[in-house]
Amino acid sequence: MDIVKTIAQVREVVRKARGDGKTIGFVPTMGALHGGHVSLMEAAGNKCDFVVVSIFVNPTQFGPGEDLDKYPRDIEADAEKCRAADVDLIFAPEAGEMYPDKLISWVEVEKLTDKLCGRSREGHFKGVTTVCAKLFNIVLPDIAFFGQKDAQQAIVIKRMVTDLNMPLVIKVCPTAREQSGLAISSRNQYLSEDEKKQAALIYASLQKCEQLVKEGETNSEKLIEAMIGKLAESPCIIVEYINIVDSDTVADIARVSGQALAAIAVKLGNTRLIDNIILDTTG
Ligand code: PAF
Repeated sequence: MDIVKTIAQVREVVRKARGDGKTIGFVPTMGALHGGHVSLMEAAGNKCDFVVVSIFVNPTQFGPGEDLDKYPRDIEADAEKCRAADVDLIFAPEAGEMYPDKLISWVEVEKLTDKLCGRSREGHFKGVTTVCAKLFNIVLPDIAFFGQKDAQQAIVIKRMVTDLNMPLVIKVCPTAREQSGLAISSRNQYLSEDEKKQAALIYASLQKCEQLVKEGETNSEKLIEAMIGKLAESPCIIVEYINIVDSDTVADIARVSGQALAAIAVKLGNTRLIDNIILDTTG
């Protein structure tokens, strides 16, 4: 496994792999790799011949007051996990390699980004889509792998790829969870043991919602009420949003019919956590 820091090096290694007839799978990350990332790397390895992982804490997707400076960074531990997952190439650029000049060209997806997380994280998705467009142009993957945990991010990236005719496929993989059900996230390491226990209520509330849908409840207001009730079992969880939305447009829906997304963002102490579940009335 190679670890490279420059765009020129990635291009050279990937060009050679492609020349050898290999398909390229790509997992973009901000490092602090965990089981969720490993499951994406494994999915990439199962589908593609050559797997590239990028490790770059992208400054343009962090707003003022967010955790850019304290975001966990440990390239050696990350490299170890990539090696164990049979990754072929890590691209770990410095910020100056990705943003040598102040950026004046951005990629922005409208409408889908002003809801859910976009409400409280102004400019976040513009930073995500811009860096992903840059990374896709650098790596030129056949398939890029994203996690369902960041459901809105996956929806936005898919739309960018469709709208801009980018020549790759976006594959969205299931959320990896701890035994308690808590969605695995790099930010979980900010949580105390007690907060972790309370954080398990996030998935428990999504499961409750799923159960109610299975029992025939489709009214979004009632489903949201039930989720709020479950989360209220924690003395510390502060709900940022709980929404039931269309899984393509992210628009709020009054009733679940077919597929929909139940999405939650909460604050637990200083840590912001998100999770979601796909609801389905057809099965
Ligand atoms: O999901 C993430 O870790 C980041 O948003 C991504 C896709 C790597 C872009 O910086």
